[in-house]
Amino acid sequence: MAELRVKKVKDFSAELKVPGDKSISHRSLMFGALSNGPCEITGFLASEDCLATMEALSSMGVEIERLGDNGTHIRVHGCRGEFKKPEKPIDCGNSGTTMRLMAGILAGQPFESTLTGDESLSKRPMNRVAVPLERMGARIKGQGDRVMAPLVITGREKLTPIHYDSPVASAQIKSAIMLAALKADGKTTITEPHPSRDHTERMLNYLLVKNIREGDTVSIWGGQTPESRDIVVPGDISSAAFWIVAAAARKGARLLIDNVGLNPTRIGVLSVMIRMGAKIIERIDESGCEPMGSIEVVGDGLRGTEIGGSEIPTLIDEIPILAVAAALAEGKTVIKDAQELRVKESDRISAVAESLRRMGVPVDEFADGMEITGGQKLKGAEINSLGDHRIAMSFAIAGLFAEGETVIKGVECIETSYPGFIRELKQLQAMSR
Ligand code: S3P
Repeated sequence: MAELRVKKVKDFSAELKVPGDKSISHRSLMFGALSNGPCEITGFLASEDCLATMEALSSMGVEIERLGDNGTHIRVHGCRGEFKKPEKPIDCGNSGTTMRLMAGILAGQPFESTLTGDESLSKRPMNRVAVPLERMGARIKGQGDRVMAPLVITGREKLTPIHYDSPVASAQIKSAIMLAALKADGKTTITEPHPSRDHTERMLNYLLVKNIREGDTVSIWGGQTPESRDIVVPGDISSAAFWIVAAAARKGARLLIDNVGLNPTRIGVLSVMIRMGAKIIERIDESGCEPMGSIEVVGDGLRGTEIGGSEIPTLIDEIPILAVAAALAEGKTVIKDAQELRVKESDRISAVAESLRRMGVPVDEFADGMEITGGQKLKGAEINSLGDHRIAMSFAIAGLFAEGETVIKGVECIETSYPGFIRELKQLQAMSR
């Protein structure tokens, strides 16, 4: 198991770029493959999760060219969604987005296919997509009550449109249904308890596939083929969040991140940090398929806050690093309505609570969140990533503020979303000592 050793740094100033957005990279491949011709993608995230999606589509006969720039510039040759049956089970690795969105695509293919995943992905609930996709006419067999992987999907050329009231605000559920809905006759609608990230809606609109949002409901019409167009993937705000917290929590620090996604359904982390006292300026430079621009942070003291309700889906992946920010802030922070964290790459509520306690931070854990008492001195500790990239990176950042050495065990998982994170961290450490 690879480990990362982190020590406290005195100051922090950086200008950096983060790799491409993971959610948008997955979608650029899938929607490109469904389109009617070649789509050139720039800024693609060549991380393990997105490469799992690339492999999945290649195994279904989709031609994908690597054009350069370390795998970030590619061309997908759309085949109008006329895929061939894969010869082997499709390995989704650690990637929930690959498994759930591919399930939506495979529901509308006239063959049987199997989706497998690693140990963590094989423990995550897939009934959340199996239930609506079965209502649309596909058959999905998985393990146990929660329909866990391996999943055997028997698709159908024509599916039935449905209205689905999703019990969870989840872009993965919404997107799986929208992908299947392209193979349904008529209008499919999905209502969510709160709006989740809208990359699918935006990218489909950009590729001229009509879909509309009214309040918490999205509607999409079947029988549409995406028009092939080039796609620019912005930097990932979820990756930027680690550095934003590292800078915001340190008096006098300065950080500039360029070319990062600023989609309103993803930037809850910025609102929370501002509420906690951070000085952050966002500038939108470009609004193609997705708004993108720069973020400037000037470090100052932070104070505790409350995070919950409709804000949760807008920062769901940033809660581990926000919990670290809370530990570095004066006063208490309460995180609630975040029970979804229990079914991510690890149980992130218990992983965060346990790791913060190891670093000397008082934490009360609840079923749907936690209360963190900030303002104590962090002490270096041994942290187990549990194979979860966001736990590994969040606690590497915590290590920059802790007395003594912090050792993160199991950092290979960082490759799933942020190749280059460790190199960036080591460079910052070398410059800041
Ligand atoms: C994602 C949606 C979120 C997020 C995940 C990526 C996506 O999951 O946590 O990292 O690309 O649609 P849920 O939709 O399950 O909340």
